[in-house]
Amino acid sequence: MKVMTPSPPTSASRWRPVRNGSVAWMLLIAWLVKVLEAGVPASGSRLSEIIMATPHPKTPIITTTRPSLEPSALPTGRPPPLHTPDGYLQLTVTSSAHLLFLSVNDNVVMQVSTTRANVSTAHDHYTAWEQTSGLYVFVLHPSDGRVMLHRVLSTAIFGEGLEVPSVFASLTPGHILVLAIKNDAAQNLSKKSRLLLYRLGVLSVGTLDKREYLAWVGIIGGPTWAEARTLDAEVELGMVWSSGVTLDVLVPRVLHDSSCLGERRGIRETARARFCSLYDGYGSLCSCPKPAPLVYEPPELEDNTITDVPLLILASNRPNYLYRSLVTVLRQAGASRDRILVLVDGHYQQVVDLLNLLQVQYEVRTAWGVTVGARISDQYRYALSFVFRRFPHAPKAILLEEDLIVAPDFFSYFNQTAWLLDADPSLCCVSAWTDLGGLHTAHDPRLLRRVEVLPGLGWMVGRSTALHLLSMWMSPDQNHDWDIWMRQPDVLGGRECVMPDVSRTFHIGFMGSHAAGLLHTAFFAYKPVPVLPYVPLLNVHRLQQREYEEDIYKLLEGEVFLLQPGLHPCHPDYLPRNLTEHPVVIFVEMTMPGDFFAWQFLARCLGVWDLDTRAHHRGLFRFFFYDTEVLVIGYPFSDYSFLKPSWLNMLEVNKTEEVEKLNLMPLTHRARFRRPALERDVPFLDVPTPVF
Ligand SMILES: *[C@@H]1O[C@H](CO)[C@@H](O)[C@H](O)[C@H]1NC(C)=O
Ligand SMILES: *[C@@H]1O[C@H](CO)[C@@H](O)[C@H](O)[C@H]1NC(C)=O
Ligand SMILES: *[C@@H]1O[C@H](CO)[C@@H](O)[C@H](O)[C@H]1NC(C)=O
Ligand SMILES: *[C@@H]1O[C@H](CO)[C@@H](O)[C@H](O)[C@H]1NC(C)=O
Ligand SMILES: *[C@@H]1O[C@H](CO)[C@@H](O)[C@H](O)[C@H]1NC(C)=O
Repeated sequence: MKVMTPSPPTSASRWRPVRNGSVAWMLLIAWLVKVLEAGVPASGSRLSEIIMATPHPKTPIITTTRPSLEPSALPTGRPPPLHTPDGYLQLTVTSSAHLLFLSVNDNVVMQVSTTRANVSTAHDHYTAWEQTSGLYVFVLHPSDGRVMLHRVLSTAIFGEGLEVPSVFASLTPGHILVLAIKNDAAQNLSKKSRLLLYRLGVLSVGTLDKREYLAWVGIIGGPTWAEARTLDAEVELGMVWSSGVTLDVLVPRVLHDSSCLGERRGIRETARARFCSLYDGYGSLCSCPKPAPLVYEPPELEDNTITDVPLLILASNRPNYLYRSLVTVLRQAGASRDRILVLVDGHYQQVVDLLNLLQVQYEVRTAWGVTVGARISDQYRYALSFVFRRFPHAPKAILLEEDLIVAPDFFSYFNQTAWLLDADPSLCCVSAWTDLGGLHTAHDPRLLRRVEVLPGLGWMVGRSTALHLLSMWMSPDQNHDWDIWMRQPDVLGGRECVMPDVSRTFHIGFMGSHAAGLLHTAFFAYKPVPVLPYVPLLNVHRLQQREYEEDIYKLLEGEVFLLQPGLHPCHPDYLPRNLTEHPVVIFVEMTMPGDFFAWQFLARCLGVWDLDTRAHHRGLFRFFFYDTEVLVIGYPFSDYSFLKPSWLNMLEVNKTEEVEKLNLMPLTHRARFRRPALERDVPFLDVPTPVF
């Protein structure tokens, strides 16, 4: 063993860095543009069309802007309705602190009035005031003004603007777009999002300040019809809101549908034309002249061992996500519509229409639970029993969620690992996801590891494990999270999962969850995923219990660098990035399974998942930090604790404040750990300004 004491750069040569050029980085390009080219176009393709389409700021037919009135005053205080000539749609849009309003030809499309009285003191959930704040996006049909899409983007909240490009990229040119703001949309609206909106024609977005208002009406990829902007901007005084704006505008109707979709032949194409006349947000599914296929005919997987393994996708009311997810699944090698099932929580017409259009099997079932967590758990329980009932001969099943898109080798990955679940009773699942695989810590898509139970975000489970779990599942009367419950030692008795070094799923969901933007920015948005349809996994048989232990002991008892804690783990020189000669071993204090204080301290500094101790194997966390292999051993909990020489210190955290000081650190991971070669293609790249 070698000991290394991190110290400032003068002694950097002691690391004796070795360049290792061989690793499979080429495989490792995150790939949204590619993934979506046959599905929803991503920021690349379609967006650039929108951006290029020069807005023609023609003089709007009629525009009046005026300070908006208090919510109660609106219905009576409005001026008499404008006379709507035939051939026009009359829109009234209000953006303000307390009221968000849209009407089309005097039919109220949306009226949201929440005041600061709706802010409760609860810290654990968003209040009605917060939930209704943000940038409202409406897409209206150009002939009769019916609502085709409605989203609220919480761009005032850090990180949630990451979704802006993909939402706008999925809209259909020619449709009417209405933008409005309730409370605030500007506080954390990134430059990138502002530029996108500006190019769409929203000319005043560049200077929009916190709690200022604008309303905009125009054609996607076409002219701006009207734009109104707060006149007074008294926002310096903290709790002051600008006066709102109301826009009345006449938009010329498009009387004849010129979309190519209506001319395409066949029952399915007729169904597509109908679907696309009702809904927007599906990108190339509804785009002319070459819409995305309705039927995919993917190649067979070579030597497929999972032809009897079904895939179940849990869905709710997020059909735009579900479509993106389904496309990545349906078109890849090994996919078969016969074995794909969607379980929808609640009846939503758009979701059902989408699944019928794509001819994917589904079941609608409304879950129940005392809390959100218990309700999700109830649906998971049902999903597990449903998939094995529906496929009575299936030995295993794969579970996925609607807000996950999958890597092109998703089925191949499960195909190569499926046999492990039969061969090794100490394994209970194969996960497609790793919490430790960020841009700077994901290293080689061929690598696998064993970890404590890690279900969720794409996983395969055997029938007997499923039956075992079902027999003891928590009741929906009790508040709980199913994945946390499943990790408890008495549930699966120490059985483990196989986890990749590089995730095979990518999380695209923002809607509906708490603080999604923060979590996304910190842990989900910057994860690479392989781009090739086949990645031969390394030494799959060595994942079996005995072999895996043999390999770990060989590794730990061989040449390693022991890290003697000296520097603060956040110091840039704490851990070198290119120490490829031997792995680095770090001991951190961990007294029992859930004790993650010292781990959190370290993980936060190194930029990996730190919200609990998941993804370790017997107290050992393994990952790469750039090109340096890192083995973190939780002492004395870990089975490998005996390797710590008595003279070696472990990383300890003596005061809670030490960790609390780092609370905002995860938001800066992306800015601190750059990987330019990979960043080019990362789906949500939007490096935030570091707080530190
Ligand atoms: C290893 O990293 C150090 C510090 O970042 C750098 O100075 C050195 O050039 C790197 N060596 C190689 C071989 O990449
Ligand atoms: C907001 O508060 C008002 C007044 O207390 C109440 O009537 C209204 O229902 C609340 N709205 C929401 C969405 O909670
Ligand atoms: C938005 O950004 C500001 C800095 O511009 C920050 O102080 C604030 O906490 C952020 N708001 C949220 C909700 O993340
Ligand atoms: C599928 O799995 C079998 C058995 O592990 C393997 O021989 C075959 O190469 C795999 N095929 C693919 C495309 O992963
Ligand atoms: C915590 O206390 C131990 C023993 O008193 C000390 O060796 C260690 O350096 C302290 N850790 C930190 C992070 O200050």
